[in-house]
Amino acid sequence: MAAIQQPELYYTTLEQIMNYRVGVVQFQPEFLNISKNLIKIEELINNMDADLIVLPELATSGYLFSNMDEVNSIAEDVKTGLTPTLMRTLSKERDVSLVIGFAENDGDKVYNSALLTNPDGTEYIYRKTHLFAEEKLFFTPGDSGFQVVSAKSGVQVGLMICFDWQFPESARSLALSGAQIICHPANLVLPWCQQAMITRSLENRVFSITSNRLGLEKNGDKELFFTGMSQVLDTKGNILHRMSQDVEETEVVTIDPTLALDKSVTHLNSVFGDRRPELYKLD
Ligand code: ACM
Repeated sequence: MAAIQQPELYYTTLEQIMNYRVGVVQFQPEFLNISKNLIKIEELINNMDADLIVLPELATSGYLFSNMDEVNSIAEDVKTGLTPTLMRTLSKERDVSLVIGFAENDGDKVYNSALLTNPDGTEYIYRKTHLFAEEKLFFTPGDSGFQVVSAKSGVQVGLMICFDWQFPESARSLALSGAQIICHPANLVLPWCQQAMITRSLENRVFSITSNRLGLEKNGDKELFFTGMSQVLDTKGNILHRMSQDVEETEVVTIDPTLALDKSVTHLNSVFGDRRPELYKLD
């Protein structure tokens, strides 16, 4: 089992992280129009005063692809792509950690990825592990695994993308590796995730930020409706903020990520200490 990192080693000052401002962004991207979506994202972020902001999955491309030509037309190299480049710049300029979903081009593969960029120039890529429905036709299953990394001020964050919620192992792996906040870019279409994430936060005693897109997307004879209701949850599963289904919104919530270090349920129970892995079936 991965050791849980001791945050004291990482934090800039304790006061800074006990009042950690986390932001969530909900909007409707325009399909296949990266430049226009980036302009909108920059405007939205410019009005937010936060330490960490999470944006939706595939935030600058849209989602409902019908062929590989469309996917290739919006897939971006992490070093040179418009989306990663702007995120790096905004992170530094606005002193904020950003998490955004984008289609990542690597050689002959395209991953459904999320990029974390930090104000100090460090960054991290997560490649979606559990592909949903027709994503399997267009994306390569992620190979990055569930790693925990430092966001601004050393707060420990873990990334997962949308349908990863369906597999409790995703959030559990992140929590066991020391995540205090799960950053969860999403393009949700099924009705269950927002409620399920309450359990994910509660059973792992972690904060979670689900940033979902909204709106109806059409491509030829296909259409999908995205459910909005982006949310920030605390370590007991309380909803600190939940958005509407159909309004483009931003919100910043102040949290104390050190609360995620407390895994106790009662004075004699701990969600980690009481685990019995030797009795669990994992395969
Ligand atoms: C999803 O994983 N975008 C539903």
